[in-house]
Amino acid sequence: MKITVVGAGYVGLVTGACLAEMGNHVVCLDVDTRKIAMLQRGEIPIHEPGLDALVQRNAAAGRLAFTTDAQAAVAHGTLQFIGVGTPPDEDGSADLQYVLAAAANIGRHMTDYKVIVDKSTVPVGTADKVRATVAAALAERGVPMDFAVVSNPEFLKEGAAIDDFMRPDRVVVGSDDERASLLMRAVYAPFMRNHDKLIVMDVRSAEFTKYAANAMLATRISFMNELALLAERVGADIELVRKGIGSDPRIGTHFLYAGAGYGGSCFPKDVKALIRIGEDNGLDLGVLNAVEEANERQKHVLVERVVKRFGEDLTGRTLALWGLAFKPNTDDMREAPSRVVIAELVKRGAAIRAYDPVAMPEARRVLEGVAGVEFVDSQAAALQGADALLIVTEWKEFRNPDFEMIKATLKQPVVFDGRNLYEPALMKAFGLEYVGIGRGTAP
Ligand code: NAD
Ligand code: UGA
Repeated sequence: MKITVVGAGYVGLVTGACLAEMGNHVVCLDVDTRKIAMLQRGEIPIHEPGLDALVQRNAAAGRLAFTTDAQAAVAHGTLQFIGVGTPPDEDGSADLQYVLAAAANIGRHMTDYKVIVDKSTVPVGTADKVRATVAAALAERGVPMDFAVVSNPEFLKEGAAIDDFMRPDRVVVGSDDERASLLMRAVYAPFMRNHDKLIVMDVRSAEFTKYAANAMLATRISFMNELALLAERVGADIELVRKGIGSDPRIGTHFLYAGAGYGGSCFPKDVKALIRIGEDNGLDLGVLNAVEEANERQKHVLVERVVKRFGEDLTGRTLALWGLAFKPNTDDMREAPSRVVIAELVKRGAAIRAYDPVAMPEARRVLEGVAGVEFVDSQAAALQGADALLIVTEWKEFRNPDFEMIKATLKQPVVFDGRNLYEPALMKAFGLEYVGIGRGTAP
């Protein structure tokens, strides 16, 4: 099939590459000329495991192309996936300007029947706005044309995006149009293997499903973070509690890890957007407000512990920091808890020696102008001259480090572990003072 993907970011690029892998002919359109030039040279603008090989292979086979030419891109695809950003507005609601600009472009340039697929995360009712925008552009041209708008929210996780797209738990399609539903079924059939995981529903329910899923996952994390704080006070170990409750299939094992708070480009913004949708509809979403508040508090927990151990004034202290990305296997720094940790430590006079396996260039960019942060190129280098170590992202290479070297290098052998990577008893055996989250080890 011929497919156009509007927006070549995390979602658009992965969608385009995975659809091309199944034999479709895909054109990715973006307004970012630098990004498109990189992609045309075979360079991948983001770190996502497996994406470079997938893009290069499909581009070489002539099934995946990149352009800034809106007219040519819109003319290409029967299906037009919109995967542009929906960042939070000042009031927390989703800013739809990029989605509607993409829709207007489609209306301006389409020459035959199109199925317009909203893949971006958008509030309920957006498909109607997209439909109205396309219709207005067509009316301006005076060329009536048939088109459908469907909702197809994306559930991939960064760092595992290819696998999530290739082997989805489910694909949600919101469609009120039979022809469009048939085309969507055909596009996703190769990803279904033996089980039909395509759930077709009305457009509004599909739009809502995406926010509901992210809000549910964020709620689990905030709840576990709150339980972790309580576990410390009552002398329980949240890691054992996690195993104890996760074995109940009604609860499940995933997304129960207490830590330094959730970050990334989606949970924070989608929780805010859903709260706002509630307000717009006269409902105070108390649970979700609490989820957000708990997460804001959680991003400060590591710093509170450093302050408790070393005092409010951290002038003259140097702290090693491992992990900058908002999660492992990505270089994405959007809403990364490390940003709050660094800002709070630097504010108190500390110097930071930071290391991340892949996010350092991006971290340098987003933290430009923040004084007191030095980026170093290894775990060991971060420890040089440092009083203590903070771990903010659970990269695999941090899981079994050289504990003797950590002990020998740190001035005060304290490890503040924001991701509960180590066993407190083992740390003690290595002579390290260990502070986890909810493990009975808080100072
Ligand atoms: P992103 O910022 O990485 O990419 C968006 C791209 O769209 C950018 O390259 C931008 O230049 C381009 N763009 C903006 N306006 C355009 C226009 N009018 N025409 C063409 N290109 C345009 O964003 P993302 O992380 O891929 O997220 C996109 C959407 O998908 C958001 O709604 C997000 O909530 C949702 N989502 C993201 C993820 C994720 O893991 N990142 C997962 C599921 C859903
Ligand atoms: C999340 C969802 O998992 C995806 O299904 C969704 O498509 C995506 O948002 C989106 O809408 O963009 P992502 O943000 O890429 O994916 O990454 P997650 O693995 O969900 O992690 C989000 C944050 O939660 C990270 O900061 C992570 O450290 C934190 N987290 C996750 C925890 O603190 N504890 C956990 O148990 C799991």
